[in-house]
Amino acid sequence: MAAPRRRTSAELQMNGGLMPPSAHVIPSSRGGGGGGAPSREDHPVTTNGGGPAHRAAKPRGGGSSVCSATKVSGRRRPAGRMPLWRVFIFASVALNVAALPLLLHQYIVNQPHHPGVVSPDQQRHACAPQPGTSGAAARAPSTGKPSVTSDSVINLDHGDPTMFEAFWRETGDAAELVIPGWQTMSYFSDVGNVCWFMEPLFDQQVRRLHRTVGNAAVDGYHVLVGTGSTQLFMAALYALSPADADQPTSVVSTAPYYSSYPAVTDFLRSGLFRWAGDANSFVGDSYIELVCSPNNPDGAIRDAVLSSGAGKAVHDLAYYWPQYTPITRRADHDIMLFTVSKSTGHAGTRIGWALVKDREVARRMTKFVELNTIGVSKDSQLRAAKVLGAVSDGYDVGGGGASRHRLFDFGRRKMVERWRMLREAAAASGAFSLPAETSGQCNFANETAANNPAFAWLRCDREDVEDCAGFLRGHKILTRSGNQFGADPRYVRVSMLDRDDAYDIFISRLASLK
Ligand SMILES: Cc1ncc(COP(=O)(O)O)c(C=O)c1O
Repeated sequence: MAAPRRRTSAELQMNGGLMPPSAHVIPSSRGGGGGGAPSREDHPVTTNGGGPAHRAAKPRGGGSSVCSATKVSGRRRPAGRMPLWRVFIFASVALNVAALPLLLHQYIVNQPHHPGVVSPDQQRHACAPQPGTSGAAARAPSTGKPSVTSDSVINLDHGDPTMFEAFWRETGDAAELVIPGWQTMSYFSDVGNVCWFMEPLFDQQVRRLHRTVGNAAVDGYHVLVGTGSTQLFMAALYALSPADADQPTSVVSTAPYYSSYPAVTDFLRSGLFRWAGDANSFVGDSYIELVCSPNNPDGAIRDAVLSSGAGKAVHDLAYYWPQYTPITRRADHDIMLFTVSKSTGHAGTRIGWALVKDREVARRMTKFVELNTIGVSKDSQLRAAKVLGAVSDGYDVGGGGASRHRLFDFGRRKMVERWRMLREAAAASGAFSLPAETSGQCNFANETAANNPAFAWLRCDREDVEDCAGFLRGHKILTRSGNQFGADPRYVRVSMLDRDDAYDIFISRLASLK
């Protein structure tokens, strides 16, 4: 959201509360006035600096504030020429007053998070940690993980997509949004839609982006919105599990599978479904197969491995975007899940979407979200719509809107560079190996492109290391162990989406490990 508009120095002067102080409130160098920054109040300051405070008399006759300083002192000015020391004081005060608007302006410009004028004291006070907050951080929006130095612990356990911040910092107001206080107040958004809490603009921008990229079919599909695609994954399990079955439906995925699948599936010990492990070793007819492609954690391009009349598949296409993989076909599965977390990097907005062919499945998924969270934040939906729209605008050549801000170009450049660095570091170390690079024809970029997964599936090749995550932790690199993905703990998953500073430290540390 846009920051409150800064006041110009002219407005500051006009505004009673922030008016530059008249001479009688400028503390003299000999004390009085309490020292420090100009006060916002019409402080009673005496010229001798020592007496009891009393409100200064309002000068009659509309004299300038500088002249009023002498009037309120109540002393008579001797007739004749002004003494030299008075001329100096007069000149000094006049200079200060003249310079004040400039100083105020500079101050405001240099303090973008403090739209009003505050004294250093006020600032110190406001920045002091408040109960339950961390001071200055409590007023500024959070930025996620703290910045790092060369001896920091580097946390690449989560796929926190902060790499994309650098892109969005450059886009000006293209993805900015202001939501007035009266908007987005109702629970309802589009009562005629299966997904009644979905903002029409979000629906529209989702479809537009898929048409722009060509990674998924949207015609004939219902779009559903969720609080992250994680909520829609749960909604799909609910919608696809028959309510009258004797047994909970088995949920499977080919190992190594995304570590959240078993955790989320079994979290509430549902009677409707339960985690049943690796799809390759599943025996039976009734199941829900989770197909993640490109796969988290190893980046593999996947298809369903099971097929039976009673079985269902959910395609998690969180990483099927041009920065990670060539777009080789327009996916058209029954249920496809996407998220802004990985497509644009806005994980904190907590918005995901599902493309669902069948109306009854869409209705049941919507019911899950309704009973789970009574809809999805409209503020977040509008923000996501704005962000997705900005991405499409970057490629909208026909509409004349094509800009230099092209997210997928940025993302691909970054990922290519990072994978090159990682492969070089692994080779320099000699202690690690990585999946071989694959490539394909990208219909979006219209060229051959390599697969550049959002995670590195790194193997420790040293004979004496059986727990790769533990080994790396000993070198202050946090990763996620292979055993959390149903795989060998000699593997770890490493996020490739962190900020440059953390990634660079990781690379130089990895290269030095023998
Ligand atoms: C494969 C996959 N699906 C879904 C998610 C979660 O997405 P969201 O942040 O939208 O809940 C992730 C996040 O890492 C993921 O890797």
